[in-house]
Amino acid sequence: MSALKSYEPLVDSTVDFYLEQTERFYAATGKTCNFNRWLQFFAFDVIGELTWNKRLGYVEKDVDIDSIVTVLGDFLSYCAVVGQQPWLDLLINKNPIKMLLQRWGLVGKVFPITKFALERQAERAAEVEKIKLHGLPDSTDKQSGVDLLSKFTASIYEHPEFMTDDKALAASISMVFAGSETTGISLSAAFYYLLKNPRVYQKLMAELDEAVGNGTIVDRENGTVTWAEAQKLPYLDAVIQESFRLHPAAGLILERVVPPQGITVCGEFIPGGTIVGCNGWVIHRRPEIFGADVDTYRPERWLETSPEQLRDMKASMFQFGGGSRTCLGKNISLLEMYKLIPSFLRRFEVELEDPSKPWKCENHWFVRQVEFNAKFKPRQLHATV
Ligand code: HEM
Repeated sequence: MSALKSYEPLVDSTVDFYLEQTERFYAATGKTCNFNRWLQFFAFDVIGELTWNKRLGYVEKDVDIDSIVTVLGDFLSYCAVVGQQPWLDLLINKNPIKMLLQRWGLVGKVFPITKFALERQAERAAEVEKIKLHGLPDSTDKQSGVDLLSKFTASIYEHPEFMTDDKALAASISMVFAGSETTGISLSAAFYYLLKNPRVYQKLMAELDEAVGNGTIVDRENGTVTWAEAQKLPYLDAVIQESFRLHPAAGLILERVVPPQGITVCGEFIPGGTIVGCNGWVIHRRPEIFGADVDTYRPERWLETSPEQLRDMKASMFQFGGGSRTCLGKNISLLEMYKLIPSFLRRFEVELEDPSKPWKCENHWFVRQVEFNAKFKPRQLHATV
């Protein structure tokens, strides 16, 4: 929790800027927004800020800089296929001839995100070297957020037997792979279900307005909501949980290998070496856990249920996976979502470009939304109750 709080200022700066840019590019012009892409740009820039203390620049320009988003998306689509058929990777990316040519520098190019990471590291070469030699300085202000590059570099100092320059670079880049599209997809789902369900949208706005009216949320000029304030809004929480339930970002099973001695699951013996796994899209639609109306978007299910059933529902949520390899960025992404969603809704009236048209989703391991277009209008910020 304390680490999470230290990240809040890093997320804040991107949230503030994102709201300003939404106003500039869309609300002020009436232009239609490719909302899933715009939310993905937000998620990319937050990761840049958290990892290198520098946004990648998407929110500033509203374009896919250096095609990083496209290249990453294509790579993840490739991984979805070779993840299921690993032998294909040996023919394509890990083809021994191709790898030999790469080693000789005859083929291959640097991933644009790797280039970005190397440039950031080079810009801060003196600081990075100092942290490697002496660790993080005692004077570091932990409250204002220490970026992940500094933390990964500090671990080279703290664990030289394990951590190396290459691993620190790989860890930084992994943050972008793991934390951008997932967060963009989860934000898109939360907004989409609200727009498709005007009753829920209005009820959430009533909760936000009432919270501003009674001082639970400070009535800031730019409409932003802090993490601590968002924690006091039960309906917002129910809205986010319900969208996670209906649209977990990962759409294939999260695989685990059974240990050599085998394992008994629900009375069935599974031999060692077997690949097993669960898929959130299946688990989140179990009627015995979530109720008979599992296919319906109904945030109230999180508020009206018995304490025992609520416990089972929470325990069955799988959007971040589970066990020892559960998502390491879970709290960071929750911080982003619980801040951006209420802040954005306070600031703008959002509507679908064509309410009769459902979005399209494609499962490339992450279940991406496409064709989710929306329009925004500036909204009266001050409390109406
Ligand atoms: C809403 C946003 C996110 C979703 C839905 C999500 C989902 C997931 C899932 C399903 C896994 C696999 C867990 C398993 O196999 O049990 C995972 C792993 C991981 N996630 Fe996330 N993630 C999100 C955001 C982030 C962010 C923001 C970061 C980093 C800043 C991040 C870093 C990681 C890492 C490093 C792993 C690998 C953990 C390991 O294998 O030990 N994730 N995430």
